[in-house]
Amino acid sequence: MFPPDFAWGAATSAFQIEGGWQADGKGPSIWDTFCHEKGNVFGDQTGDVACNSYELWEKDLECIQQLGLTHYRLSVSWARLLPDGMTQHVNQRGVQYYNRVINDLLACNVSPMVTLYHFDLPQALHDLGGWKSPEIATLFDNYAKFCFQTFGDRVKFWITINEPHICAKLGYEDGIHAPGLKEKGTTAYLVGHNMLRAHAKAWHSYNSEYRAKQKGAVSLAFNSDWFEPLDPSCSADITATEREFAFTLGWFAWPVFVTGDYPETMRFAINSQSQKLGFDGTSRLPTFSDDDPFILGTADFFALNYYTARKVKAGGGVDQTLSMKSDLDAKEVLDPSWPICGAPWLAVVPHGLRKLLRYIKDTFHNPMVYITENGFSQMGPVQIEDWERWEFYSSTISEVAKAIQEDGVNVRGYFAWSLMDNFEWADGFSVRFGLFHVDPSDAELSRTMYRSGREYARIISKYKTSGQAK
Ligand code: GAL
Repeated sequence: MFPPDFAWGAATSAFQIEGGWQADGKGPSIWDTFCHEKGNVFGDQTGDVACNSYELWEKDLECIQQLGLTHYRLSVSWARLLPDGMTQHVNQRGVQYYNRVINDLLACNVSPMVTLYHFDLPQALHDLGGWKSPEIATLFDNYAKFCFQTFGDRVKFWITINEPHICAKLGYEDGIHAPGLKEKGTTAYLVGHNMLRAHAKAWHSYNSEYRAKQKGAVSLAFNSDWFEPLDPSCSADITATEREFAFTLGWFAWPVFVTGDYPETMRFAINSQSQKLGFDGTSRLPTFSDDDPFILGTADFFALNYYTARKVKAGGGVDQTLSMKSDLDAKEVLDPSWPICGAPWLAVVPHGLRKLLRYIKDTFHNPMVYITENGFSQMGPVQIEDWERWEFYSSTISEVAKAIQEDGVNVRGYFAWSLMDNFEWADGFSVRFGLFHVDPSDAELSRTMYRSGREYARIISKYKTSGQAK
């Protein structure tokens, strides 16, 4: 059913679970600042304590063991390791914390997959220009090299940046994620550009300085929905669907896997819109120069975060304003037959993952794929017997099996989002994605296994190691 040594994982990220926002010398990140400002997060909740994984790591490890995971995806907090973001000042207590996490995982036979950047830029670097400044690529590379040097003897899977598309769009265009900027139609492209430059620099550092000795693999995690035309016989809807793919997945995966540059569709759409609005001749989508690190080929595997699907209808761009929305000029529509789970954006479409995997195989030269996030959310009353979530996981996992067996996609692992309920960004704790329930108002922050966790553990023990059902 699954390749032998298929990775069965679950994922979390530092800001969403650790808490300890000022503990032992940690510096603030843009998410600390963002949630301390009123009105940005549901109920003005913060990540100050979150699941308190900084103090309760053993509890997380117990959850990981109960599930029988082979892999655990976590992120390290840049500002916990380097409080002002720079390598001149290392917070040894932060290093100790992650050493302990990594060593404990390995002692339990669980391989860590470590993300270096999961939305939480050190505030000090943001104050110096952050992702808008070209200097960030060197600062990120120094941070990455520090992590490879410190943890790379034991960590064999690295993700440099999680979901650059979400970071750039939600943080700098829509302003609903930190740092909360709404600089429409320009900054997100610049931020995305610097993220690609930063990623590529770090990949090259690993490749030339660490790979021979450490023998690990480095990538970045793309997010993409599955898109299909609302009317499959309408050519405008078909090209709008191509634009959706280009502006979401292609924006980052095309440069890394196909040409070293942005998809033509994307540049064309942005430039045409600029022209219409009488914007000057310089493209709002930056260009890579000879001084930039070479982008093509800077991923050792394809890391995909998949959650949902959308139908696409042409048009809907707001013609007279500069924005990503008008550049894209497409409308996303939900198929009424798709159930919504928890968060309103989350239509349940497991078969979309199989189609997306096939698309990735065909578009990006049949890469080795890890599904680094996929999950189902709950809102309102807590249901520990979360059969719907389990149904979702079970059908998604069987779609993955079909993609492997029938479509020949080289999928090597699957990570459920998330190990436990946690701080769901602007939704705070109101949206729950866990395989374990955590109640933020419980003083103990105990972890209680959901039914879906129990069932996932059953599937893992069935297929673990040999890939064949036991
Ligand atoms: C992803 C993100 C995760 C998690 C998830 C569920 O975009 O990487 O941190 O929040 O969405 O919304």
